[in-house]
Amino acid sequence: MNDKKGEKVIILAIESSCDDTSAAVIVDGEIKSNRIANQSVHEQYGGVVPELASRAHMANIVPVVKSALQDAGVTQSELSAIGFTRGPGLLGSLIVGVSFAKSLALSLDIPLIEVHHMNAHILAHFAEDPKPKFPFLCLTVSGGHTQIVRVDDYLDMTILGTTIDDAAGEAFDKTGKILGLPYPAGPIIDKYAREGEAIYTFTEPKVDGLNFSFSGLKTSIMHFLQKQMKKDDQFINNNMNNICASVQARIVSILLNKLTIAAESSNITQIAIAGGVSANSGLRNGLIDLCQEKGWNHFIPAFQYCTDNAGMIAVSAYQKYLAGQFIGQEVTPKARMEM
Ligand code: KG4
Ligand code: ZN
Repeated sequence: MNDKKGEKVIILAIESSCDDTSAAVIVDGEIKSNRIANQSVHEQYGGVVPELASRAHMANIVPVVKSALQDAGVTQSELSAIGFTRGPGLLGSLIVGVSFAKSLALSLDIPLIEVHHMNAHILAHFAEDPKPKFPFLCLTVSGGHTQIVRVDDYLDMTILGTTIDDAAGEAFDKTGKILGLPYPAGPIIDKYAREGEAIYTFTEPKVDGLNFSFSGLKTSIMHFLQKQMKKDDQFINNNMNNICASVQARIVSILLNKLTIAAESSNITQIAIAGGVSANSGLRNGLIDLCQEKGWNHFIPAFQYCTDNAGMIAVSAYQKYLAGQFIGQEVTPKARMEM
């Protein structure tokens, strides 16, 4: 294998777990480029269509990688290793990124580093300052996951709580579908919520410990809207901002209430959020207020590191490189993957 001892550590990272094709370059732990190609093809379907996602990844991956290398001013021959998302995610989407990473690593004779997508969302906090100190708690909220994680080191994480049904992002996206909004509805609900008031209340689900549940909320929103639409068939159109503000306020309160219990029971005062839903303005402001009230430190990633991106995969791959954690060419993608 290509021996680059003593030289700079330059890693190309690839992310293709869902509907974003992304490549990033990290040099000695510093992100030099982070290219993301979004797939608008899913908007009209109310969710990601796996077959269309893998086709778009195939079309996007070569230009995205080329641009990431170009932005960083790095050539393929300078690479020390290739990091890639092994899972969890959509199998057809993962296959594109994993196959690409394996082929390039083989042709350049450099090592491969597998990365866990949710672990990387958390390590996105080390892409820029301020960086949390260990141990910290991270509420990881995306389209597929909702977790409270205790982070003791870069590669030492323990899940304290998780959703027993839908993820927080799904709660936003499914509500959006009911409201007739395109996918992904999270950012649109966020935008309308900023113009509205949370005047409608939806009950908070009772779930044991630090676990979450969002499927009941979706049902109660649906029943509420059906009832209102019977009385006034323009109810949704005329009250969109207030409906969005109310839904968002409830999702945020469910998340922050559990996060508060986790912090108080563990005595950890460094509190972070990560994943696509951490781009939500209600959650960001809610966390800031909560931490101010309790005297805790909050950590919120920059927008470009909230939703899926290869920059976070690069940070994780760099830590694994330092720890000597490589994987062989026999590696296959994993739709479900333990942290
Ligand atoms: O982490 P991510 O990009 O992909 C997954 O790993 O799932 O998260 C995507 C999720 C989607 O459900 C999307 O609606 C949600 O993040 N999202 C938001 C916002 N931006 C993205 N949800 C609420 N408010 C936002 N501003
Ligand atoms: Zn994600």
